[in-house]
Amino acid sequence: MLVYPSYLSSQNRRLTLEKLENTSCERIHVDVMDGKFVENTTPDVSIFKEELKGITKPLEIHLMVNDAKKYIEDFKELNPVMFIIHVELKNVKEVIDLIHSYGIQVGLAINPNTKLSKAAPYLKEIEQVLLMGVNPGMGGQEFIYGTVNRVRELYSIKAGHQYKFDISIDGGINDNTIGKVRLFTNSVVSGSYIVKGKDFEKQIESLR
Ligand code: DX5
Ligand code: ZN
Repeated sequence: MLVYPSYLSSQNRRLTLEKLENTSCERIHVDVMDGKFVENTTPDVSIFKEELKGITKPLEIHLMVNDAKKYIEDFKELNPVMFIIHVELKNVKEVIDLIHSYGIQVGLAINPNTKLSKAAPYLKEIEQVLLMGVNPGMGGQEFIYGTVNRVRELYSIKAGHQYKFDISIDGGINDNTIGKVRLFTNSVVSGSYIVKGKDFEKQIESLR
C-alpha cells in the first residue's frame, strides 16, 4: 500500500512537512482550496512554495477549486508529479489536456455524491482516480462507508476495461477504515490520522 499523507489538518505545516520528508511515504498530498468549490480557502501559491522548500518527496496537488486552469498555471512551479482535479468541473476534458501538455499526470477526484459514471468518458486517459471518502473541504471528517461499495465498483470497471489508472482514496482513512478498502486500492491519502499522531512513521506503517 502506497501512503500519501495530507498535511491539511496540521497546526505547524512546515514542521509537519519536515517530519513527513523523513518518513517512508511515497508522495505528499497537497490540498488546495478556493473558498468556492469548497468552503475553506488555502493560502496563495507563494506560501506553499515557501513551506515546501527543500522537500524532495514527489507531490500530488489536489485542486478543490472551480478555476482549475488558473491554479494549474500557478501551482505547476511546484513541479508536482500529478494534479488531481474534480470530475464535477464543467471543463474536465480541457483541464486534463492542459495538465498532460505540461507532462504532468492527471488524477480525477470523485465526490461521495457524484455518480461514478460521470468519470467514464475520461477513464482511458487519466493516471489516477481519487475516490473521496468524505465531502471535501477539511481534514478529520468521518469516513463515509458507502465509499466501500464505490471503490469495489470502480475496481471492477477498471478490470473489465483493462484501464491503467491507479485507484486511490482520500478522506477518513485510518488504521480501521483502511481494512475495508485495501483490496481495491493500491494507495491512500491520509491526513489527520498521520499528522495528529506522535510518530508519523508508525502511523504510516500501520496503514501499509
Ligand atoms: C479533504 C482533503 C483531504 C484531507 C484528508 O477535503 O482533500 O486530503 O486532508 O484528511 P483526513 O485523512 O483527515 O480525512
Ligand atoms: Zn485531498
